[in-house]
Amino acid sequence: MKFYLGTNWKMHKTVAEALAYTEGLAHYAKDYPQFQFFIIPSYTALWQVRQKVDALGAPIWVGAQNTHWEDQGAFTGEISPVQLKEIGLDLVEIGHSERRQYYNETDFTVNLKTLAALKHGFKALVCVGENMDEKEHGASKSKIATQVQIALNGVKAEDLPRVMIAYEPVWAIGEKGIPAEAPYVFEIHESIRKTLCELYGEQGREVPIFFGGSVNLQNCQSYCGHPDVNGLFIGRTAWQPDSFHQVMDLVTDAWKNK
Ligand code: 13P
Repeated sequence: MKFYLGTNWKMHKTVAEALAYTEGLAHYAKDYPQFQFFIIPSYTALWQVRQKVDALGAPIWVGAQNTHWEDQGAFTGEISPVQLKEIGLDLVEIGHSERRQYYNETDFTVNLKTLAALKHGFKALVCVGENMDEKEHGASKSKIATQVQIALNGVKAEDLPRVMIAYEPVWAIGEKGIPAEAPYVFEIHESIRKTLCELYGEQGREVPIFFGGSVNLQNCQSYCGHPDVNGLFIGRTAWQPDSFHQVMDLVTDAWKNK
């Protein structure tokens, strides 16, 4: 399995900025075949970023930050998986903690979206993670196990190769986030792996699990080398191609030294 390096742009970048970024990242990405790259722009930039990635032949998957679960309907302001499919995207991110916190996404809507994304042929990147209260009360693993179990309810074993999980502790994400210690991250990833194997047997070992939340140039190496950390899902530190490039080098070195 390649190691994954991906970035969620959140509500950042105009189309012009998105295209400039994509050119910058494509320039670096070709020199790092050990990584599977993915970028997750805002909806407004998706079409043109897809075209740009294809025109450059860049080894970068392109994804959306959300999807509705219905193919169409009276859902003002929503985007359907059929509409996303027309753009030719590789993946759909589902259940990011900011969506759960600010837009009332629940484990059950995450499940509907996951099923819809898989039905339409996307890879589904399902985000899970506990908040600080849950962590402090010793409930992280049970919370995350529940999130994974509900998200994947009804997902058939034959579709599992298109499922990816991102573990992003809510307390570690964003400007006010506290970076997580690597041993804690490893423990949670092992526990996610256990849940996946309970649900799918040995096939659960093939689902890539990414870590995200204040991954930066100081800590990115510390998360590498554990068999259940299969990638990094990065916000701020990957929003400029140059600093993303530094992550590529640091992670490459970290793997060499394992
Ligand atoms: P930051 O790396 O900026 O904390 O964001 C992480 C994230 O939310 C990726 O989805």
